[in-house]
Amino acid sequence: MMTDPAPTPDQLVIRRPDDWHVHLRDGDMLAAVVNATARQFARAIVMPNLKPPVTTAAAGAAYRDRIRAAVDPALDFTPLITCYLTDGMPGDELARGHGEGIFTAAKLYPAHATTNSAHGVTDVAHIRDALETMQRIGMPLLIHGEVTDAHVDIFDREAVFIERTLTGLVRDYPALKIVFEHITTAEAVAFVEASGPEVAATITPHHLAINRNAMFEGGIRPHLYCLPVLKRETHQRALRGAATSGNPKFFLGTDSAPHVAAAKETACGCAGCYNAPFALESYAKTFEEAGALDRLEGFASEHGPAFYGLPLNQGTVTLERVAVTVPDRIGDVVPFHAGESLAWRFIG
Ligand code: NCD
Ligand code: ZN
Repeated sequence: MMTDPAPTPDQLVIRRPDDWHVHLRDGDMLAAVVNATARQFARAIVMPNLKPPVTTAAAGAAYRDRIRAAVDPALDFTPLITCYLTDGMPGDELARGHGEGIFTAAKLYPAHATTNSAHGVTDVAHIRDALETMQRIGMPLLIHGEVTDAHVDIFDREAVFIERTLTGLVRDYPALKIVFEHITTAEAVAFVEASGPEVAATITPHHLAINRNAMFEGGIRPHLYCLPVLKRETHQRALRGAATSGNPKFFLGTDSAPHVAAAKETACGCAGCYNAPFALESYAKTFEEAGALDRLEGFASEHGPAFYGLPLNQGTVTLERVAVTVPDRIGDVVPFHAGESLAWRFIG
């Protein structure tokens, strides 16, 4: 006898989510993009790779105030600021910024790994004081995990970073809270799964939704170029498995990284996908395809606060099963999923 399939829900109500990795930029771009994030998320870990980068508590406080001033007053949004680590960064400055509630975490960009990372760390040996302090005070270290060695194939830079840097870091600072940001490989998934509870990872909507084929479908697609670069399908599958597994070590971080279209549609285009305006819609699509819509709430709203030791958000947001078409352009930026129809619509 045939049984009826379970009815598919037409509404999804989850605890208000947070974005644990976003680029809100500054100036006109900040004003243009911040409310897309503030509309969907209660809090966001804001990346410090401005020009110049945010490297002092004073700069962090000033940036936080510029973000607050740019947010629509009708939205309840808390930016969580991060400090950009540089060689020789004094632990005292981090401890002071953390103690004053300005810095939630600090970000390790290997020098020249990605957009605005020229001032990044050349060797983790040069930030020992910072790491010892962070371990002592419980301040999370957020890592862009790619080696910058030009001889290492770009598709291998994350896996090689695990071998050359991350394994030693976790061994030398066993109590340091580490977020392996925007992971893109099966190796990263396996590393995080095998590590203790101090090590977690964020996963972006685009690394879940597509693989590197999409970057070259019918021609080169500069709006899908980001760092770490999209990998092959086996890695995409590993990421989808991790995100939808319910494992609390994996949580939402969009890595929304807007660049004006002209800076991407050019001979040497910038890395970064602007996914903030339809972030939850994109994650919902992935979770539904995996038959795991019931696990979206943990990934989006619970695992991140638990790792950071922050309270869960109160209140809920609703997605409804109504198709929404992503516009070709939002202001001067081409968003992720441009021109596509997504099945779930965020209604706030
Ligand atoms: C980010 C940016 O544009 O700031 N770009 C990206 O491709 N993700 C930097 C980063 O997070 O690597
Ligand atoms: Zn980023």
